[in-house]
Amino acid sequence: MENELIIEEIKKLKVERNAVILSHFYTRGEVQEVADFIGDSLSLCKAAVSSKADVIVFAGVHFMAESAAIISPQKTVLLPVPDAGCPMADMVTAESLRAAKEKHPEAAVVCYVNSSAAVKAESDICCTSANAINVVNSIEEREIIFIPDKNLGAFVSLHTDKKIHLWPGFCHVHDNISEENLEELKKFHPDAEFLAHPECRPEVLKFADRVLSTSGIVNEVESSGSTEFIIGTEREIVRNLKRKYPGKKFYPASEKTFCYNMKKITLEAILNSLQNMEYEIHVPENIRVKAKRTLDRMLEISRS
Ligand code: 13P
Ligand code: SF4
Repeated sequence: MENELIIEEIKKLKVERNAVILSHFYTRGEVQEVADFIGDSLSLCKAAVSSKADVIVFAGVHFMAESAAIISPQKTVLLPVPDAGCPMADMVTAESLRAAKEKHPEAAVVCYVNSSAAVKAESDICCTSANAINVVNSIEEREIIFIPDKNLGAFVSLHTDKKIHLWPGFCHVHDNISEENLEELKKFHPDAEFLAHPECRPEVLKFADRVLSTSGIVNEVESSGSTEFIIGTEREIVRNLKRKYPGKKFYPASEKTFCYNMKKITLEAILNSLQNMEYEIHVPENIRVKAKRTLDRMLEISRS
């Protein structure tokens, strides 16, 4: 079926099912065109809570859809491709986290939303790349186990005097950006503003003019007086920005920043999802309730 026909069918089914499509910025361009809301992890969590829809189709990866199902249990949450996962989220398990908690009994666990429901249930509070520093500084405990992203954890540790135990997790997409990439780009584009996601390595972040979540990067391009930018995150953002700001120049920090899991979500998969109500996210109630507490605590301090 041609894209136009698929889009028409998706629009019809959205009305019939009272459904919304929430999409992360890293999905394919054509997927973002059918989305009702496009955002970063934090704004997607908020959109899931505030939506009046009965059905949420999540154009993103598993932990995002699962977070929506945790905080909005009265809604049906669908992930169009069940194996669209996040390798970083799989780098910590509830079992390995319990062992770390035994080793550091005084520490609070701050858990990046890129994690499973079972891991969230074992944690004290969640964070996203947009609020991680605030979350860490807002809690009482002086000692923190920060899971699973070592790069985000290292970035946070520069902005707090708390003792942070880093976890050896990382995002292969952002970790692909090297110091050499930046040295080269800076040489050729000395006036470009370098906007980097905190999942990048510390040696890359030291070149950054601003370290921001994906929404933060998009907003900074809009408000900044600069006309040239080096973008240190998934490359779909570069395509979006080029389309939206044809008068500005954008250079990807690396050509290898491709999240293949986000790209698994296609228009065909969304259509199938709405036609057959697939694939519904189920979280066992005992885990959901505990995981919701950690997400609610985060949302509480990230209201605006
Ligand atoms: P944000 O959406 O918080 O910027 O995080 C990026 C990411 O890697 C999502 O998987
Ligand atoms: Fe996971 Fe990285 Fe893809 Fe985000 S960009 S979903 S952290 S693999």
